[in-house]
Amino acid sequence: MKIYLETLGCQMNQLDSELLLGRFRARDWDIVDSAKDADAVLYNTCSVRDLAEQKVYSRLGRDSRRKLDRNAIGRVYVIAVFGCMAQRDPKELRRRCKGLDIICAPGQIEKLPELLEAAADAQLAAIQPLESDALAAPAPMPAIFTDPKRTEAPDTAAEARIDQLDLTRDPELRSSKSQAFVRVARGCNNFCSYCIVPYVRGPERSREPSHILDETRRLVGAGVSEVTLIGQTVNRYCHTAGDVTTSFAGLLETLHDLDGLRRLRFVTSHPSGFGRETLEAMRDLPKVCEYMHMPAQHGSDRLLAAMNRGYTRSDYDALVDLAREIVPGVTFASDFIVGFPGETEAEHQATIDLMRRVQFKNSFVFKYSPRPGTAAAKTLTDDISDEVKKRRNNELLDIQRETGLTHHRSYIGQQIEVLVTGKSRRSEKQDSPATGETMQLMGRTRGDHIVLFDGAQAMVDSYQTLTITDANDLALFATL
Ligand code: 5AD
Ligand code: SF4
Repeated sequence: MKIYLETLGCQMNQLDSELLLGRFRARDWDIVDSAKDADAVLYNTCSVRDLAEQKVYSRLGRDSRRKLDRNAIGRVYVIAVFGCMAQRDPKELRRRCKGLDIICAPGQIEKLPELLEAAADAQLAAIQPLESDALAAPAPMPAIFTDPKRTEAPDTAAEARIDQLDLTRDPELRSSKSQAFVRVARGCNNFCSYCIVPYVRGPERSREPSHILDETRRLVGAGVSEVTLIGQTVNRYCHTAGDVTTSFAGLLETLHDLDGLRRLRFVTSHPSGFGRETLEAMRDLPKVCEYMHMPAQHGSDRLLAAMNRGYTRSDYDALVDLAREIVPGVTFASDFIVGFPGETEAEHQATIDLMRRVQFKNSFVFKYSPRPGTAAAKTLTDDISDEVKKRRNNELLDIQRETGLTHHRSYIGQQIEVLVTGKSRRSEKQDSPATGETMQLMGRTRGDHIVLFDGAQAMVDSYQTLTITDANDLALFATL
């Protein structure tokens, strides 16, 4: 079978897609780069903002038309949607896309290889009846597999099966030789008022530490030297079995002992999840990188409360100060939402003030998008016009450009260790030079800075110490 898989959204989805591609390859299925070359198209979807959902609907419109054309010439074209949209509103998906074969929530995706095979067989039987007297089977309805809602009892058998997807991953099948994501938790219990994640990804469940250790050990054994632990609120990781509780700091300590591991990172952190213990672990465990992606979302106390973030502006400021005191050289990244209901100009200024104070290495800025079913969508009117959202969005990006430039420039003249991750985008676009020739390469520092420098392809996946010669708002430039 030829598979086309498109991934939208966060690192959770990226990891899920990687694990699934491993399963598909194990069945000798081909992975193709374009939907038109595929027998089955899959979308790993995101529901965090409306834009991401609309993108999928437009793809599905095109695919439904293609499916009719394919079936008319006796060929199959299976269409599958999985991830957050499948859990958020499967009925809407079915209503808006008649050609859809499979709808599969995040906790059910280990079924996808079997479901794809079954859907392809059913389609073939319908379009190519073997016996002349055999009636064509009715067009299969989409097979819908959802996760239990938060109000329903958890499906422990499904939970155990989905954990096997991570645990039995093939450590050789990855997009990068040196880097890998490892999931430490699923779900979220924070219920930030704007956010759909707690509804579509379910309650927070921390994975068994021995499973995380086994998986990481196998990855490191296969050559991975930089592991990024992922979780919706990764630093809130906490696992209890009997009378043994493993904290996030404890987990970092356990993984840190693995020989061959050089860097340990984690995303995304919640500001209220950082105690001294984790910051001190970051300081004391040399493999743990000095980087905190810790979304502030807003700079105003009223908005932080309306967003149900669980901290105030001064809590956030104090945490940044404490982290800078305990973890020398730590860098910060943040997410911000502009145009949350009722956001005044003065409140928007409070975010600008926060950005100037903290000097984030980088920030992701989003325009508020009401998500059906969330507290904000139910109780507040989306009253900030798109024009104002756009302007505020651009203002924050301008501030980030300024602070990003100052931040990156402060590294000029320093020598920094970089993990070389691949060719730069510029070199990707150009034809590959012959082996041995230099090209522009890209790497990452421990602080998550992007570094661009000229080197040989053979350096990819190695660690190099570079001299920083220049910088812009997003990247450092260096020489060997
Ligand atoms: N509208 C806009 N941005 C959102 N985010 C989450 N939900 C919404 C929403 N409804 C942003 C937050 C989060 C990031 C992943 O997406 O900033 O940190
Ligand atoms: Fe959404 Fe808040 Fe949970 Fe992040 S912490 S996933 S923003 S509810």
